[in-house]
This record gives sequence, structure tokens and C-alpha cells, in this order.
Amino acid sequence: MNMKHIAGCLKSHGYVTIEDSLPATLLANLRKRCDRNGEEHFSPARIGRDSQRQLRESVRGDVIHWLDASNADARLFFSLMDRLRRCLNEALYLGLFAYECHYAIFGAGAFYQKHLDVLQGGDNRLLSTVVYLDDEWTATDGGELILYASDQSVVARVLPAPGRMVIFLSADFPHEVLAAQHERHSISGWFRGRALAS
Ligand code: OGA
Ligand code: MN
Repeated sequence: MNMKHIAGCLKSHGYVTIEDSLPATLLANLRKRCDRNGEEHFSPARIGRDSQRQLRESVRGDVIHWLDASNADARLFFSLMDRLRRCLNEALYLGLFAYECHYAIFGAGAFYQKHLDVLQGGDNRLLSTVVYLDDEWTATDGGELILYASDQSVVARVLPAPGRMVIFLSADFPHEVLAAQHERHSISGWFRGRALAS
């Protein structure tokens, strides 16, 4: 990863897309773990305060599994993201403190309505990251991530291309995931600031 390029784009545009963001072997291993029939257990994500199934599915249709440091693939991914965290702190003084992430699987036709990753009540998510794990993806497959500006104009359309990573300022970009023709695999993550003292 070219840290200077990443920091420069974040500073001037608030978002950046990175090609071949991870070593090929790691990408393949993470993809194997991001599988309904694999070792990890996937369940529907909750949204906000509401856990009602119909409401949830009308907002987001993915199933998720939070990564932890229990296996070498996740540990390597966490270490790369931590290197990125330290570089961005040095370059941009963002005060990124912790990173958390989950695998996400969107089945064919599943989507995630326009939302902001910063939850109400201020959970201090500063930067959002998404890595796309599928090893083939073309424009006709759909499943794009659409980033909007605060005036709701479209800023970027990101196709979930193999190994691509997108990073954006969590508070600045409402975004949505369009339905795809077939299953879509990714890792969504967030760098947080230090929790405010209560
Ligand atoms: C999310 C999200 C975008 C994507 O998980 O919050 O917006 O492209 N994901 O998967
Ligand atoms: Mn999001």
C-alpha cells in the first residue's frame, strides 16, 4: 500500500480507493473464511435499536461475522490495518485509536440502503474501510458502493473489484450498496478515535 498516496487522497477528497490492497494469498484466505459454509459463523447484522427482521431486511440484507485474532489470516489483516492506522496518524493527525471489522456476505439481490456509519450517540467511528474479497467481478455483476456528498450528489461509484479497498471519512459520506447479481463478499471495518471520558 502506498501510504503517501492514501494519506494525500484522504486529505484532499475524504476518500480513496486502493487496488491490490492485500497480498494475494491473504486475500484468498480471507475469502475462504468469508463463506456461509466455512469455519466462521454468520448472522444478520442488527441495525440501530431495532432488531425486527422485516425492518432490518428492508435496510440491509447482509450477514456478518466479526473478525477476532483467533486465526493467522485475521491477525495478518489486523497487523496490516494497524500499520495503515499508524501511518495515517502520522500523516494526518487523525488520532485513530482502534480498528474493528466484520466479514459481510450480501446474497444475490441483497442491498444496504443509504446510511452513515457514524451511529447516533457518537460511537467515534472516524474512518470506514471496505475490502472486496471476490476474485472476479465485472460491471454487469452490480453490487456497487455509491458514496454521496452531504448534499446527496454522487461522489463515487465503487465496483467491488477483487482486492480493492475503499477508505472514507465516516461522518462525511452517506453511502449505499446496490443489489448484486450474485453473492458478494467483503470486510467492512472502522477506525475509531479514543473513547470520550464519560
Ligand atoms: C457497511 C457498508 C459498504 C460495502 O458495511 O457499513 O456500507 O461496499 N459496506 O460493502
Ligand atoms: Mn456503511
